[in-house]
Amino acid sequence: MIPTYNEKPNLQELVSRIDDACKGASIDAEIVIVDDNSPDGTGAHAEELGKEYNVKVVHRSGKLGLSTAVMEGFEAASGDTLVVMDADLSHPPEKIPEMVRKIESDEAQMVVGSRYAKGGAVENWPIHRRIISKCATLLARGLTKVKDPMSGFFALRRSVIDGVELNPIGYKIGLEILVKGKYDSAAEVPITFADRKAGKSKLGASVYLKYIDHCIRLYEHKKPWLARYVKFTFIGGIGTVINLAILWTAVEVFFAHYLWAAVLAFVVADTNNFIWNRWWTFRSKGKVHIQYSQFLLVSINGLMLNLIFLKTIVEDLMPALGIGEDRASVFLVVAQVIAIFLVSIFNFIANSLWTFSDDT
Ligand code: GDD
Ligand code: MN
Repeated sequence: MIPTYNEKPNLQELVSRIDDACKGASIDAEIVIVDDNSPDGTGAHAEELGKEYNVKVVHRSGKLGLSTAVMEGFEAASGDTLVVMDADLSHPPEKIPEMVRKIESDEAQMVVGSRYAKGGAVENWPIHRRIISKCATLLARGLTKVKDPMSGFFALRRSVIDGVELNPIGYKIGLEILVKGKYDSAAEVPITFADRKAGKSKLGASVYLKYIDHCIRLYEHKKPWLARYVKFTFIGGIGTVINLAILWTAVEVFFAHYLWAAVLAFVVADTNNFIWNRWWTFRSKGKVHIQYSQFLLVSINGLMLNLIFLKTIVEDLMPALGIGEDRASVFLVVAQVIAIFLVSIFNFIANSLWTFSDDT
């Protein structure tokens, strides 16, 4: 399965090396090329190669994206063992037999051509590309044990994706399958990732942001409650900064009474929290005005709980632990941190089960 966009100069060598590698290992391979109407004529060239090799070409109307190309390739392929690779010769076709063997012997149902497994490498990568790649890999750490989940070179048994709903927005279809696919074990085969032979990479800067978004969505898929709680507290943290900034500005710049300033700061920060949580944390589509009132109500209750917790910690817990008045201000901060933590859990649970209940 090879997605292509402007890869004409690489195709002949690629197809002939795949053919050699597979024939040498007695693998009956069909090469599926999914081309997005490449302006350089990759599609027609692929058809041409079909006269000599077992090549099937899927033509799409325009550049519709890598992930959907791979998914269409899966549908077009007739085999039961699927291999995906780039067209630019950065993935060595000679590794295909080893990957396919692992699938067919059922040692694994998903096999990744890995730059970061023992024996794997990248060729001539500048330091910044190495760092970006490492950071991206780190972000996916909690999603899979595979050391190179970003690899665009992988093999799988068709049953791994049978009936699995794959999200095509991400560039990283391999990672998507690793997280959502149905398999008992995933293996890695070390590869040396070569520089692309000809042409330019189709990866732009926006791909990094899309990748972060993709990872967040996969964490949500894997650990929905934890992912939402992390997002909720992250927004809450920003909300706290907004709250303090407004409080300070209102009192110092506009000489407002501190209580009115506090009310204003609370409402603005909480509205901000509501918008982000509705749109991002809970991805909710419920009735806005009802949810907004519920959210405010939860926050007000949270605020009162905060005061009760704080009072209990300062007046009951601290004396019981023998913490004296002289160190009170330090412990006041500690007490408030504990109180905020407890309230964040209360707010989160209340908003999950009540405010945004029908969506989660
Ligand atoms: N049909 C189709 N449509 N093919 C596409 C499209 C598209 O919109 N965009 C890219 N491709 C094809 C390219 O022609 C190439 O064969 C393959 O997909 C990968 O694109 P590259 O432009 O070579 O990507 P890269 O080298 O920057 O990234 C590769 O390496 C990364 C690891 O560092 C990909 O394999 C990534 O998936 C991988 O994470
Ligand atoms: Mn490439």
